[in-house]
Amino acid sequence: MKFFADTADVDAIRELNDLGLLDGVTTNPSLIKKSGRDILEVTKEICEIVDGPVSAEVTATDANQMIAEGRKLVEIAGNIAVKVPLTLDGLKACKALTDDGHMVNVTLCFSANQALLAAKAGATFISPFIGRLDDINMDGMELISEIRTIYDNYGYETQILAASIRTVNHVKDAALIGADVMTAPPGVIKAMANHPLTDKGLDAFLADIKAAGIKIL
Ligand code: E4P
Repeated sequence: MKFFADTADVDAIRELNDLGLLDGVTTNPSLIKKSGRDILEVTKEICEIVDGPVSAEVTATDANQMIAEGRKLVEIAGNIAVKVPLTLDGLKACKALTDDGHMVNVTLCFSANQALLAAKAGATFISPFIGRLDDINMDGMELISEIRTIYDNYGYETQILAASIRTVNHVKDAALIGADVMTAPPGVIKAMANHPLTDKGLDAFLADIKAAGIKIL
């Protein structure tokens, strides 16, 4: 499973990248706003840190404008994936941009039928939002499962990018279903390393190291 960081915080991206955990980054207008930085400038900096795909979202809603914005975004770096919303205009822009040879991430996906349309439009990534479905008492993970089945039934190569991940259990469940990629806030990715028995076991080992004076170097 590929790991993308869902953030525009360059320090957090650098930290995860240095740990060898990052395969890419996703941003969206809300994350850009949170960073307080210019979209072109911060996206360029992120692209310089990470080798893998960096999703940058268009601001327009009209297909031709989205295509124009997408063509500007891909000038930032060779690893930009243009993020477009799952609307008919977004699908049209997806087709045009992928025909140009660019990566496209179709975002704000909340149904299997929407994901089917994105695959037919040639999307590189489809982003189903797990947490936002859970927020309204629907089953976000069931959507991941449905999309996996449909894409496998027909051999679509669009990668399922499990998004709106809020917990470490979301990551595990998406991995069990076979999502190709997950994008999560840096805090969730780091929390995957935590287990109380690891902490307890390490405390006991450290006590014995001290008591026995064990030294390696
Ligand atoms: C994905 O690309 C989105 O940026 C993100 O996962 C949305 O997550 P949220 O629902 O926590 O805002």
